[in-house]
Amino acid sequence: MKRLKRIGIITAGGDSPGLNAAIRGVGKAALGIEGVEIIGFRDGFRGLAEDLRVRLDRRALSGILTIGGTILGTGRDKPHRMEVGGEERDMTEVIVRNYRKNKLDALVCIGGGGTHKNALRLVEKGLNIVTLPKTIDNDIPLTDATIGFDTALGIATEAVDRLHSTAHSHHRIIIAEVMGHRAGWLALGAGIAGGADVILIPEKPYDIVHIATAIRKRSRHGTNFSIVAVAEGAMSKEDAAAFAKAEEQKKNATSKTQRQRAKTELAVLSARHSGNTLRLAKQLEELTHLEARVTILGYVQRGGTPSAGDRLLATRLGTMCVDLIQEQVFGVMVAARGDGVKPVPIAEVAGKLKTVPADHPWIDSARRVGTCLGD
Ligand code: F6P
Repeated sequence: MKRLKRIGIITAGGDSPGLNAAIRGVGKAALGIEGVEIIGFRDGFRGLAEDLRVRLDRRALSGILTIGGTILGTGRDKPHRMEVGGEERDMTEVIVRNYRKNKLDALVCIGGGGTHKNALRLVEKGLNIVTLPKTIDNDIPLTDATIGFDTALGIATEAVDRLHSTAHSHHRIIIAEVMGHRAGWLALGAGIAGGADVILIPEKPYDIVHIATAIRKRSRHGTNFSIVAVAEGAMSKEDAAAFAKAEEQKKNATSKTQRQRAKTELAVLSARHSGNTLRLAKQLEELTHLEARVTILGYVQRGGTPSAGDRLLATRLGTMCVDLIQEQVFGVMVAARGDGVKPVPIAEVAGKLKTVPADHPWIDSARRVGTCLGD
């Protein structure tokens, strides 16, 4: 079989700890094959459109394993809707041209949900693409794990741990907001590992009265503090119903006006939801008569040194990715399966989301240690 010599690589979407470990894994494994070159492109798909090349030789790949972020830079640009010179343009053909101009044999895209949708578009244009799953949200289907989740889980767990002593000292409710708009893996994992008393995730719309009852019960038993781990996308049953109704109206709209009305309603609901954690704190203060405070963990969860688990995962996926390229297996994501890896078609991943199933063992364990899930 012909040896593939020129491999391009990008990191796209939100950054995650472990991206550099993945670049290094791909790069070192590729450079270990005689005559193979690896070319980085800056800032995700924009780097491909603007041909922003970075030479990844042994020196560039050295010393990056433990460093957070990505040496290539990243971005959320979409090839088919990219802002160029103040206007939105379809840059797909430009990207295809640059791929050919650089004589790439393959392109590795490391990213999350959006990256997989974008990568699929380029696969459909005939590019040889292999992806690696990366996101602190852990919401990519068909893989056991995603690069970045383990580190973020450690950071969020430590935060929940630390909030216990201050909540206890002041007899307060402390609400820790954890990242995760549509999937609650991080809030659920950190909530369980950190011993949160209440865990709220997007998959389980909550009833504020149930949460207040659980907190009051703790007070009656002499524990007048509580820790609530809430995913940024968690919402009340009423808000979830309002969102579902607007989504339904958008889907069933038969005219432009109806569609626009539904879209406006969704935008209003989203804007209102952005203050949800602060609202939750106020509601709980009123219902429990305990003081409540909010800690938004935010980008701290994505920053800094990757955990040992993420370095290992990124190195495993990165090195195996080079084998798939040399075997000319394209249009696939390198999924983690047990101790090994499995190529799965990007088409089966793109546009899909791995949310927490209602019967997931983590949910059962959380309930059995007495955690309120708000439902
Ligand atoms: O997708 C990963 C993620 O960290 C989400 O958990 C979070 O909601 C989002 O990215 C934030 O994205 P941005 O970097 O665009 O603000």
